[in-house]
Amino acid sequence: MNPLLEAALSARTNAHAPFSKFQVGAAIEDADGRIFTGCNVENATYGLTICAERVAVFKAISEGARKFTRIAVAADTDVLTPPCGACRQILWEFCGDAELTLVNLQGKTESFRLSELFPRPFDASFID
Ligand code: THU
Repeated sequence: MNPLLEAALSARTNAHAPFSKFQVGAAIEDADGRIFTGCNVENATYGLTICAERVAVFKAISEGARKFTRIAVAADTDVLTPPCGACRQILWEFCGDAELTLVNLQGKTESFRLSELFPRPFDASFID
C-alpha cells in the first residue's frame, strides 16, 4: 500500500474518540514529499471536536509546509468515509484541487479530485 495511505491508517489508531468511538486518520503530502498526519480529537463539549483532516492540515501549516499534492482519509467503514463539509472547506483553502484518496481497514480505496467533492467553493478569490 502506498505510504500516504499507510500514514492515514496509522494516524487513525491515535484517534481520541471516546464519545463517538469513530476513529479517523488523515495524511497530507506536500510538494517536497513530506507527510503530515492527523487523527480526530474529540472534546466533552462535542462542539470543540476537531476532525482528523483539519489536524493534519494545521500540523502541516505549523511546520511550514504550504503546497500540498495529495490527501488520504482512513476510517473503518465499508462505504468509504469522506471529509465533512468543514474539512472540505479547509482542505480546499490549503490544498486546492488536490487528489483525495479514501481508504478503509480492508485496503479498499477510492480517489477523487477535491473539486468533485467540493464544487463551486467560496475561497479567497472572492475577497482578493
Ligand atoms: N470525523 C473526522 O475526523 N473526519 C471526518 O471527515 C468526519 C468526522 C470525526 C469527528 C468525530 O470525532 C467523529 O468523526 C464522528 O463524527
